[in-house]
Amino acid sequence: MMSAALQHAADAQARGAIVDAVISQKGGVGKSTITVNLAAVVGENTRPNAEGEDSPVVAAGIDPQGSMEKWADRVAEERLSFDYLSTQGNNDLLPKLKQDPLVRRIIVDCPGFMDVDPNATRSKDPLGHGAAADALRALLAITDRAIVPMNPEWLTYDPTEYTIERVLRPRGIPFLIVVNRWDARDGDEDLLKVNAWIDKHGYPRAPQPIRKYKIHTNAAEKGLVVTQYQPSGTALRAKEDFYKLALAVDGVSI
Ligand SMILES: Nc1ncnc2c1ncn2[C@@H]1O[C@H](COP(=O)(O)OP(=O)(O)OP(=O)(O)O)[C@@H](O)[C@H]1O
Ligand SMILES: [Mg+2]
Repeated sequence: MMSAALQHAADAQARGAIVDAVISQKGGVGKSTITVNLAAVVGENTRPNAEGEDSPVVAAGIDPQGSMEKWADRVAEERLSFDYLSTQGNNDLLPKLKQDPLVRRIIVDCPGFMDVDPNATRSKDPLGHGAAADALRALLAITDRAIVPMNPEWLTYDPTEYTIERVLRPRGIPFLIVVNRWDARDGDEDLLKVNAWIDKHGYPRAPQPIRKYKIHTNAAEKGLVVTQYQPSGTALRAKEDFYKLALAVDGVSI
């Protein structure tokens, strides 16, 4: 039997669209926020296949809670620079979409709850056997890169390490950590601390954090993505953060 890492390489060889999974075992770190806004920025800067065709960039949710799609549903269709869908338990959908010649990039929002067996030994895959675990396993088999958001808080350290060491590394999936929800008004002590933790582990991280702005928190309700925020200094900085993230993700070799 092929090792997980070899299998990943084989899958990557047969690559269709690039699949980025936004994943963390920790809930509420910003997976959905990052999926939608990254898709908006990437979508805006990806050439359409042809005039009038759907965007080659797709944001997908495998979260039964479906917050990513609920958000995108509220955005006026003609203003969206990306397509979106929810797999709703159909685990064949994303592998098929990856092979669709009209799709070039798929950014996937992972569930807030990761179904893991807490007693799984270190050598075993900790993903459980429920529907959420099955969806995640199917996604990870076709994932080219993972984006792991973390907040500048001590409580996110352990779940981040778990996600990387137990779920991503054994599968040979390259990843990038991005610090999200950093409040610049609090000074940079927490940011330096979390960056030092990431660097100590030798994990790659996006050079710039995503700052905490109220406009992000209100965006879902208002049906807005970062590229559509009302012009302001804050909107400019919010956009800057996601442009920089898009570039950092592009820099992760697959
Ligand atoms: N950079 C940010 N600035 C301000 N608010 C943010 C930022 N990122 C996320 N939030 C807010 O934090 C909350 C959690 O974010 P989000 O829902 O994206 O996290 P999640 O990881 O998808 O959560 P879950 O694990 O429940 O799926 C939301 O209210 C969101 O609006
Ligand atoms: Mg979410």
